[in-house]
Amino acid sequence: MEFIVTKDYKSMSTLAAERIVEQVRENPRSVLGLATGSTPEGLYAELVAAYRVGDVDFAGITTFNLDEYCGLSPDHSQSYHYFMREHLISHVNIDEARAFIPNEELVNDRPAWETYSARMDAAGGVDLQLLGIGQNGHIGFNEPDDNFSKGCHIVELTESTIQANSRLFDSVDEVPRRAYTMGIGDIMKARRVILVASGDSKAESVRDSFFGPVTPRIPASILQFHHNICVIVDEAAAKLCPVG
Ligand code: PGA
Repeated sequence: MEFIVTKDYKSMSTLAAERIVEQVRENPRSVLGLATGSTPEGLYAELVAAYRVGDVDFAGITTFNLDEYCGLSPDHSQSYHYFMREHLISHVNIDEARAFIPNEELVNDRPAWETYSARMDAAGGVDLQLLGIGQNGHIGFNEPDDNFSKGCHIVELTESTIQANSRLFDSVDEVPRRAYTMGIGDIMKARRVILVASGDSKAESVRDSFFGPVTPRIPASILQFHHNICVIVDEAAAKLCPVG
């Protein structure tokens, strides 16, 4: 595991964006697993900037987002479809036909764990998976549980996630209670993983995930078993870790 502590949010974002640009330059047909949330906003801004000056070309890539709320239309300002358009897709030359986000359609006829995960496999698997982390150690919307999940599925969000995400909605009652998410198995199949975390609120989950026992009660802890993972955290998120 590569564990990198950066000075602040900006340098975390810059480093993560550089790694993604390198990946796409090395393999212009890369399959990227993408994340939403406040944490990756800065790195997406850097990817847009890199595209604008001609440092990177996204025309050949395929993307698979980690998750989406159930019940929000793609035009809802808190849906992850909307987030991806706002922060990345509408600003760069990603082919929207190859930008996948789990949605209701994908669970209409067949179970989502067949359709979305099968699509990822059919695309050749994910070359680089970007992850944030929840205060409870979730990755995607894989909440603490008795087991590690396998493929894409529907989850009931925990109260702590609903509370954490309510900051983005008018009231806590508007936060969806359920979501679609890639499974832990999908995430572990990625050839390379980059996890970013920033701020004091992530300090405990970063410590527990990367320096504690591997347990489905802290879903990100399974990443200790990934063969190619780079964790990029700022000083605030690293403050409880036994490093440096
Ligand atoms: P955040 O969310 O980047 O908004 O903190 C991360 C997550 O919950 O996975």
